[in-house]
Amino acid sequence: MPQIIGVPKETAAGEKRVATVPEVVEKLIKLGFKVMVQSGAGDAANCSDDTYRAAGAEIAATAAQLWSGADIVFKVGVPTAEDVGLLRQGGTLIGFIWPAQNPELMQQLAAKKATVLAIDALPRTLSRAQKMDALTSQAGVAGYRAVIEAANAFGRFFNGQITAAGKVPPAKVFIAGAGVAGLAAIGTAAGLGAIVRANDTRAEVADQVVSLGGEFVKVDFEEEGSGGGGYAKVMSEGFQQAQREMYAKQAREVDIIITTALIPGKPAPRLITAEMVKSMKPGSVIVDMAAERGGNCELTEPGQAVVKHGVTIVGYTDLTSRLAKQSSTLYASNLFRLTEELCKTKDGVINVNMEDEAIRGLTVVKEGGITWPPPPPKPSAAPPAAKPVAAVPAAKKGHGHGAASEPMAGGKLAIMFAVAALLFWFVGANAPQAFLAHFTVFVLACFVGYMVVWNVTPALHTPLMSVTNAISSIICIGALVQIAPPLVGGVPPDPWIRWLAVGGIALTAVNMFGGFAVTQRMLDMFRK
Ligand code: NAI
Repeated sequence: MPQIIGVPKETAAGEKRVATVPEVVEKLIKLGFKVMVQSGAGDAANCSDDTYRAAGAEIAATAAQLWSGADIVFKVGVPTAEDVGLLRQGGTLIGFIWPAQNPELMQQLAAKKATVLAIDALPRTLSRAQKMDALTSQAGVAGYRAVIEAANAFGRFFNGQITAAGKVPPAKVFIAGAGVAGLAAIGTAAGLGAIVRANDTRAEVADQVVSLGGEFVKVDFEEEGSGGGGYAKVMSEGFQQAQREMYAKQAREVDIIITTALIPGKPAPRLITAEMVKSMKPGSVIVDMAAERGGNCELTEPGQAVVKHGVTIVGYTDLTSRLAKQSSTLYASNLFRLTEELCKTKDGVINVNMEDEAIRGLTVVKEGGITWPPPPPKPSAAPPAAKPVAAVPAAKKGHGHGAASEPMAGGKLAIMFAVAALLFWFVGANAPQAFLAHFTVFVLACFVGYMVVWNVTPALHTPLMSVTNAISSIICIGALVQIAPPLVGGVPPDPWIRWLAVGGIALTAVNMFGGFAVTQRMLDMFRK
């Protein structure tokens, strides 16, 4: 029996998004599901009941009908107590949950014996999970909209112009925080022709800022800002002081500031003080995208656009909703990709496979049992970048769990080396001469291959693989030897063998040239 996916009308004030759109309804039906949409659910996102009907969905007149009829409910906003009341006993719910912030909701969902997949709990750093990453898709929309809001409140052009009436300088935009939303804002503002500068505590984003047309402005203080998982951490007082000085200088120079800085589980860092606002030129604009989490600017009023000291401070908390059609389409697509992962059999029935790292990460309640937080992610196969040397003695002194594992690892390594040495000695003493020559080449090849792969940045592994693929076509030489007539005397090769060798060369040429072409294209992507 195919399961029914239900899409209710969002109830939160000002929420214009909808969890699926007609184009995605068709795809869900192709996966074997039935789709039911509450009447009017997509109105604010320009998706009428008729378009859903035409895509094959059934329209439920009321919320009660929708929730009671659906096996799986797709939602955008965090469910209310009323929503949970309407959810079927043992039903499945997929949407934003924020389990850490909503413990009561988690209890209510567990009491319903529900299975709940929190899209916000997706392990974002898994590359396989990117297609399902709704935080990224929604932050991208918000970043774009923030620039549009800034442009709306700003009394000048973004791009510089030379007109008959005179020269207009380009607007200067400063973006604080270059995560997903910040990068989207940089790209949009640069696209409109502004001079864009950006800053982030995570130094690794500098290249991304430049690749989108911005200039990365550094804080004059050495401190690593990564807090793990691609997120930031709270910085030291010394760094914050240096950062405030730099931001104060930028505030005096720029026309628009867009702030996006967030730290998981912490209030938004205060980056723009009242003094800095005062120092800005009249008519300047600040868009504070962190307004909901307390704001990056001291004078922000969440949900409002206010003018203070001649500066318009936009603190809207519904930026994604202000582009409802776009954000709903991207969100629907994220949920569809998730549904594909849940229903690999394409028979309209989901299987919440807790062995799958991505699914495990976002399943916060499973058949009434709270499964959040998930176990820590498995260590990455990539080598840690520049291990801090000081960490080793610290671990040996007995702090943290590294203390126990370090000597163990050392002992294991010594045993492994001893066993390997014995094996080599045995092979060397007993194997025939011809085998030894091949074996030496084999061992050296393994060593060189290991060193090459290990010392290449993980991001470059795919181009490396494609170039290796191309080089592996060295077998071509074997085929060439077969085609060539013997140099001195001997029997010319059988025509069959020749033609087979020609075929072999043709096939391996595809591998060779294809491998090099793919490598080139990938390296070009890094150069941009
Ligand atoms: P976010 O919304 O938590 O933070 C926004 C930005 O503010 C971050 O770039 C952060 O470094 C910055 N920030 C925090 N405190 C700051 C301060 N005091 N001053 C200046 N900047 C500050 O993060 P978001 O945008 O959700 O994701 C951040 C990063 O996570 C992405 O840039 C990416 O590197 C990583 N990520 C990785 C993914 C993947 O590997 N597939 C997927 C999604 C995100």
